[in-house]
Amino acid sequence: MTTIRDAAQKIMQTAIGLAPERWLPGGTPDPLIGRHGAIGSSVPRVDGPRKVKGEAPFAAEVPARNMTYAALVYSTIARGHIATLETDAAQAAPGVVLVMTYRNAPRMAPPAVFMSDPRAAGASSLPVMQDDAIHWNGEPIAVILAETQEQADHAATLVRVTYTEEAASTSFEYAAAHAHRPDNVLGEPAVIEIGNAEAALAEAAHKIDRTYHTPRYSHAAIEPHAATVWWEADGQLIVHDATQMLNGTRWTLAGIFGLKEEQIRILSPFVGGGFGGKALWNHQILAIAASRLSGRPVRVALSREGVFRVSGGRTTTRQRVALGARADGTLSALIHTGIAAMTAYNNCPEQFSFPARHLYAAGSFKLEQKVADIDMVANTFMRAPGESVGTFALESAIDELADDMGLDPIELRRRIEPAKDPTSDHPFSSRHLLDAYARGAERFGWSARSPTPRARREGEWLIGMGVATATYPYYRMPGGTARITLTRAGHACVAMASHEMGMGTATVQVQATADRLGLPLTHVTFAYGDTALPPGTIAGGSSQTASIAAAVTAAGEKLVSALLKLVGNASPLAGLKAGDIVARDGGLGHRALADRFESYVSILSRANRDQVSAEAEAPMPLEVQKYAMHSYGAQFCEVRVNAVTGETRVSRFLGAFDTGRIVNPRTAASQFRGGIIMGLGLALTEETLFDERTGRIMNASLAEYHVPVHLDVPEIDVIWTDTPDPRAPLGAHGIGEIGITGVGAAVANAVYNATGRRIRDLPITLDKLLGIT
Ligand code: MOS
Repeated sequence: MTTIRDAAQKIMQTAIGLAPERWLPGGTPDPLIGRHGAIGSSVPRVDGPRKVKGEAPFAAEVPARNMTYAALVYSTIARGHIATLETDAAQAAPGVVLVMTYRNAPRMAPPAVFMSDPRAAGASSLPVMQDDAIHWNGEPIAVILAETQEQADHAATLVRVTYTEEAASTSFEYAAAHAHRPDNVLGEPAVIEIGNAEAALAEAAHKIDRTYHTPRYSHAAIEPHAATVWWEADGQLIVHDATQMLNGTRWTLAGIFGLKEEQIRILSPFVGGGFGGKALWNHQILAIAASRLSGRPVRVALSREGVFRVSGGRTTTRQRVALGARADGTLSALIHTGIAAMTAYNNCPEQFSFPARHLYAAGSFKLEQKVADIDMVANTFMRAPGESVGTFALESAIDELADDMGLDPIELRRRIEPAKDPTSDHPFSSRHLLDAYARGAERFGWSARSPTPRARREGEWLIGMGVATATYPYYRMPGGTARITLTRAGHACVAMASHEMGMGTATVQVQATADRLGLPLTHVTFAYGDTALPPGTIAGGSSQTASIAAAVTAAGEKLVSALLKLVGNASPLAGLKAGDIVARDGGLGHRALADRFESYVSILSRANRDQVSAEAEAPMPLEVQKYAMHSYGAQFCEVRVNAVTGETRVSRFLGAFDTGRIVNPRTAASQFRGGIIMGLGLALTEETLFDERTGRIMNASLAEYHVPVHLDVPEIDVIWTDTPDPRAPLGAHGIGEIGITGVGAAVANAVYNATGRRIRDLPITLDKLLGIT
């Protein structure tokens, strides 16, 4: 699967000549990064009032005339074939409109799996309900459509099925014994070796060599996956979806159903949390197929169990981290290898080795990922896939080494801070990790921590502090196009098929556009969430803010050119070139001469135009070709562990982040806190219990899959360096994912400091802490 990287590089090479210089290595930074206007202000969410009033339509709430409601029947074996399938009773049940199985489902091409093409959105490449084969325990084997959801749910219980079972790979240990190296890991090499790390480790003055385990995790967004779909009389397919990849979903559905992209419209204006899970799974495809058969609109709103059965989450890993250190605390060897469970038909190898590629200086490296084939629902991206569990292992091992050497763990990180990217040799575009550590340590009161475990006790409670590095790459996705429409009243509307999953996309883009065009916030709107708009990029990899901002910048430059063509000889702007112009004060002006200015209202009125519009695609993300671009953070945790019960309570938490410029402190703090809270779940409570005998997920509900609740979450302090990255649009990095990284290790390191016990197997549940009295 080197296709995507090769294709991207080919496109980039041809695009270099077209890119404006600010995106090119060595070019001038975005002029907005030093300006304080709307950017940098705590602007309330522009979608807040609609959400509070219940007026924001989510996919499961879109009304349709003559609606039918879908229920799915899930397989109960992991691998084999359907032997008998009785649907008469379900078909005859009250309100049932359609029973669809592989026998009557329309012919559909298999989905294009993510990464097989830049536009592919399929979570797996398995055909959907095309034959009697079963590929995972929980695979949909029947769809019931009925007049009400209750009737559909009831009829689903009446389907009778028997199977011919086949041997399945459901044991991680067995699969790991047959693990294989993938062609690549998300376009990066699966193995990186620099020097002879094993030899250097063997000779090291200090060494740590540990194995870490992380479990399966399931997506548990507040909004379960849902879609409302119908076919128009003219053959147009309408899909109201909860998705983070509008255009990818459209392209992939076109392939599955043999349609042209123009025949499909996907709408997804509001998504109740994505976190990587809101991709194209079976349920949307089945709903569309059932709608075609029934001729009626279909609403499929997965139950919480349905989310566990049909959509995958973060996969199991077993990781080895081995560190060899010289007497002065510098590293002679950094080894991070391991195995992630995956299916044979998806492409998410959980890039846990990525942090070690960029974080620390070492004399030698051995970084390698393998995958173990398991018969399960396709695993997928889940907030900082790879980095969240990779930093658990790496940052736990760093803490172990520091403890072993009698060094403060922050001091050890100072000694291994690299001058440039340790594996690519590229310069860092912006790296202030030690600054984040210093600010965080000061504010958290790190100096009060005793390096000796079990030094603080209050009654039954052992109290400890831990720290760990957070990191996540900067990504900007190619292919996004923005359209700006400026009206005679001096209002601008930006349009791009992008995604608002609760993180504040629309809000920050309104801020950025207001500053870009020199308009007040109240004069800018952002239209998104609809493939009828110019194409957007995926809301993934914490990339949307930069991806949209780059497209808006390009469209803004076109808009200025279009406006200059409209000004007549009587305008104060007459004769000026685009390069002389800055947008300010509701119009355009010369960058130096204050009197050479004309408002947008005046330009459009004089030209007798109601509006002017400009559309442009963002230049390719060339900045990542030359620079190592990453975000950083220092996660500080204080825990109280009950010496009798082993219960761990997080009593204080602080994240100090270095993620470039902060566009909106209010939405940013919320993103960071949300990431940290999800990290507390990763560290302490969440675990998808997968029965290795049957391949069945046994805790497919929030009653038994424990996400943190308010009582589990202390006051979380978040601070940031707010140092702009001169190579990024707006000087800003995406921040959706970094918050969860490092949290697992910060908690585990605090538990060690409190109790003297290292837990290398997440989650840190009570049983693992018994006997610490
Ligand atoms: Mo994120 S896991 O790329 O939605």
